[in-house]
Amino acid sequence: ITEEPGPLTGQAPPPPVRDWPALDLDGTEFDPVLAGLMSEGPLTRIRLPFGEGWAWLATRYEDVKLVTNDPRFSRAEVTRRQVTRLAPNFAPRPGSLAWADQPAHNRLRRAVAGAFTVSAMKQLRPRAQEILDELVDGVVRDGPPVDLVERVLEPFPLTVVSEVMGVPPADRDRVHAWTRQIISTSGGTEAADRAKKGLYGWIGETVRARAVSPAEDVYTLLGAAVARGEITAEEAVGLAGPLQIGGEAVTHHSGQTLFLILTRPELTERMRARPEARGPVLDELLRYIPHRSTVGLARIALEDVELAGRRIRAGEPVYVSYLAANRDPDAFPDPDTIHPDRDPNPHLAFGNGPHHCTGAVLARLQTELLVGTLLDRLPGLRLAVPPEQVRWRHKTMIRGPRTLPVTW
Ligand code: HEM
Repeated sequence: ITEEPGPLTGQAPPPPVRDWPALDLDGTEFDPVLAGLMSEGPLTRIRLPFGEGWAWLATRYEDVKLVTNDPRFSRAEVTRRQVTRLAPNFAPRPGSLAWADQPAHNRLRRAVAGAFTVSAMKQLRPRAQEILDELVDGVVRDGPPVDLVERVLEPFPLTVVSEVMGVPPADRDRVHAWTRQIISTSGGTEAADRAKKGLYGWIGETVRARAVSPAEDVYTLLGAAVARGEITAEEAVGLAGPLQIGGEAVTHHSGQTLFLILTRPELTERMRARPEARGPVLDELLRYIPHRSTVGLARIALEDVELAGRRIRAGEPVYVSYLAANRDPDAFPDPDTIHPDRDPNPHLAFGNGPHHCTGAVLARLQTELLVGTLLDRLPGLRLAVPPEQVRWRHKTMIRGPRTLPVTW
């Protein structure tokens, strides 16, 4: 426990700077370093493995919501600095939504928003179900045991996101290999740079080729927006990359979701017995699941801002932890327990404010289809190994099982 929140005159000694190494955590264990930081106070200071200096870390629900919805905290400013961070390499691209402030963020998002709306996702649903059914047909045909990650959780989001983006089937393996390398922290800067070069080169060519295409996929929307002069060709590439990579998040997130469901028989039974209970359970798992290692992307204070009884000075970097906010007892009573009936459940698993996840509706659709279809079509679905033998992804930003051996 550190000192009481100090006066806003800046006299309170700043909290110590804590090193936050990227731990290789297994299962759905909550990061003990983050738990320690949360117990030290609402606003602590951290140093991550790469970049320079230290950054503030906000962990309370209300503070996280404030920081992420306040234009006094800038993403664009981070691109001009070497802020302490988890990723070894740092090369933000023009056009990337994550690094844009208003009004550029709105202009860029408008170019692709149509492909990710609730109504677009409704239209996508039957095709997504068809893709999933084909994969599950194969699993049923081959019989147990199977690795769900390899057979379903990896190919399904990849195929669906490639469908939304408009990646031709012949290019899908290549695109997937690049995205996997980019989100991995193993292989170092060089491997990630090579993968980025490959993916972004491919996207550039694809957008150029689509300018006159009649299709309705994202690469076509981007080609058209470039042709109308609303975004530059370079911005189109920076916009598309993270969308293409976003599909990976569903693989790992649904891996954690299924691991939790299959190791808690009361959840499986509830979801089988009452399909209407599936939505609230999945939402509660979204709140509970430690989706990522450490923290995502920083923001920089553009002016002095008072937060949690302290003064953040202009120019200082700030991180928020959505994982921590989702465990704030003031927002979620008994936060470390999965309560399948939790209501309301205003979790921040997809972020908050202008940078709220572009693919949130798509991710929800895929998770709902995945869990529902697997429970309905594989009665008796269970892990084929003891839970402690499931192997987890290491040296990674997004956490999840490497394999999920199941039987039924
Ligand atoms: C941003 C979570 C799936 C595309 C984010 C953010 C979170 C998040 C926490 C950051 C918010 C911030 O910067 O403050 C998730 C989770 C997913 C998922 C938990 C799966 C369960 C997807 C998918 C896509 C996607 C499927 C795309 C197809 C993006 C993009 C951003 C983003 C482009 C940056 C948005 C911006 O800065 O304006 N996501 N995401 N995500 N996500 Fe997702």
